[in-house]
Amino acid sequence: MRDLAELQKLHSSKWLRYASDVLPMHVAEMDFEVDPGVREVLSEMVAKSDLGYLGPIPEVAEAFAGFARRHWGWMPDVTQVRMTTDVGVGVVEVIRALSKPGDKVIINSPVYHSFYMWLDELKLTTVDAPLIHEGDDWRLDLAAIEAQFAAGARFILLSSPHNPVGRIHTLAELTAIAELSNKHNAYVISDEIHAPLTYAGQKFIPYLSIPAAQRLGVTVTSSSKAFNFAGLKAAIIVTQNQEMFEELSVMPEANHWRASLLGGFAMAKAFSDGDKWLTETMTQLDHNRKLVKELLAKYLPDAKYVIPQNSYLAWIDISCLELGDNASELLIENQKVAFNPGTEFGDQYGAYIRLNFATSPEIIEEGIKRLAS
Ligand SMILES: Cc1ncc(COP(=O)(O)O)c(C=O)c1O
Repeated sequence: MRDLAELQKLHSSKWLRYASDVLPMHVAEMDFEVDPGVREVLSEMVAKSDLGYLGPIPEVAEAFAGFARRHWGWMPDVTQVRMTTDVGVGVVEVIRALSKPGDKVIINSPVYHSFYMWLDELKLTTVDAPLIHEGDDWRLDLAAIEAQFAAGARFILLSSPHNPVGRIHTLAELTAIAELSNKHNAYVISDEIHAPLTYAGQKFIPYLSIPAAQRLGVTVTSSSKAFNFAGLKAAIIVTQNQEMFEELSVMPEANHWRASLLGGFAMAKAFSDGDKWLTETMTQLDHNRKLVKELLAKYLPDAKYVIPQNSYLAWIDISCLELGDNASELLIENQKVAFNPGTEFGDQYGAYIRLNFATSPEIIEEGIKRLAS
């Protein structure tokens, strides 16, 4: 694991957004080095000046299908996998292709902040069916979702698994969503970018592995989050129904060209040969997700945090600090530590921050100490 001095020399947003005395624990990228196999593919391409436009790349669909089979017991049809620039562009282009002005799209707050921006970009109406928060659980509110469909919503944009709460939607919940979508003729767009980061003992269900989901469902995903190369820009749009696939052919052909060559081949390598690296990374993340619990108990026992089932984001209720809705700004200014403010994920979540624990135990401890003091 690289030390802080080394990390501070990186070029990504995580390390350039704030002054160098601020410890960045916000944006969802990991401080771990990328899988050596992926780096080798990239180095070789760079060394050979092999940096042109992305052409046909059947390797990506094959690698994704292999990953889905090994990890989730699902065998997707590889002929229905399209390339796109990143998950954000993929979701926007899919919804643009299927929507008309004024359409309503359901989201489930607290949810990944870019969902709001993507739907604003499309000039569509966002309708919220907030997650139900009960005890330690955050789960989809199926009754609220059904009510929104009944009121005319034509889409639901799912974060599956769910960022920021790290919840894995169950087979029963996703099947219910599929049934509701069929009943109301509404599309389900499932953003599954965090799926490969599922902890041992949990079961991630790919939305399109559910037969009832295939008629109106589209999955957008990438290896970029789990394998830590978001800057490489490549993602996939997956359907599992020929009519749905063809309906999306109105998307610009340039969707494909706007993905990067390096990103495409990195994705193929990661999904086909990255299991060993991913297992090691998940072992470290498993340690870290529990460490966050221990450190909060030690330094800030009144904070509330539920260990996530997936990914490396800790959703922490810090209302005990009584910092108000601007907690994150105050923490950056006074404590020199950056988290995502809860309000990014929905106006009503000012009591929360999101902390990225994909780093060293030392950095996690330092971040939590700064928060607590
Ligand atoms: C749920 C979710 N979707 C999408 C993204 C961003 O993906 P991309 O960079 O491929 O647009 C993130 C990044 O954190 C995310 O958490």
